[in-house]
Amino acid sequence: MSAAGETVRAQDSTGGGHAGAADFTALDLRAALGMFATGVTIVTAESGGERIGATVSSFNSVSLDPPLVLFSVGRNAKAFAAWNSVERFAINVLDQSQRDLSSRFGRAQGDKWLGVKTLRGEASGAALLPGALAWFECETHRILDGGDHIIILGRVLTLTRHGGEAAQPLVFFGGSYRNLDAKTRVEPLPSEHWWVYAW
Ligand SMILES: Cc1cc2nc3c(=O)[nH]c(=O)nc-3n(C[C@H](O)[C@H](O)[C@H](O)COP(=O)(O)O)c2cc1C
Repeated sequence: MSAAGETVRAQDSTGGGHAGAADFTALDLRAALGMFATGVTIVTAESGGERIGATVSSFNSVSLDPPLVLFSVGRNAKAFAAWNSVERFAINVLDQSQRDLSSRFGRAQGDKWLGVKTLRGEASGAALLPGALAWFECETHRILDGGDHIIILGRVLTLTRHGGEAAQPLVFFGGSYRNLDAKTRVEPLPSEHWWVYAW
């Protein structure tokens, strides 16, 4: 196990006879991946008359044309079979006030939906959470193998943006929720650079 701050290098799988063996533990990998700050989403879908939902930080943009996004789902999720055949789904991008919802949908426990107010997305049939900063309703474009996860690529059918410049997204970093000081804009980028830097 590496001490905090110690450099842990992956073996070079292209040479040296290491044949892809990794010189780091799963904990090392998680700790390093935790240095990548993300927003937090709850992905929802309706599957066989049942609602499914999970907190997901692996959401990301993929393509503008066609409009594609992705997220990954663990193979050990209780709802894995439903995710693995999902046809339509919705991504709810969480506001910082929705931390409790994130925790509730972030573990396989009890009835995630008890007392949760939702709207029904017309394009996807999936639950939309009021108060979210953005909703993306998607149809499944492709499902790919991702090791102990599957990667679900979605084609965006509809989008709704509630948050503006002053939005306060829920942020996940280093295994903790963080609040973003959205008022402090360190270096606003000129809009012609947005695609270069943000996509
Ligand atoms: C902040 C946060 C981010 C998460 N991100 C993911 C993710 O990207 N992919 C994933 O499979 N699980 C992720 N999880 C865990 C799932 O939400 C959890 O395993 C899932 O809700 C279990 O669903 P189940 O009831 O079908 O078992 C995350 C949990 C939290 C708290």
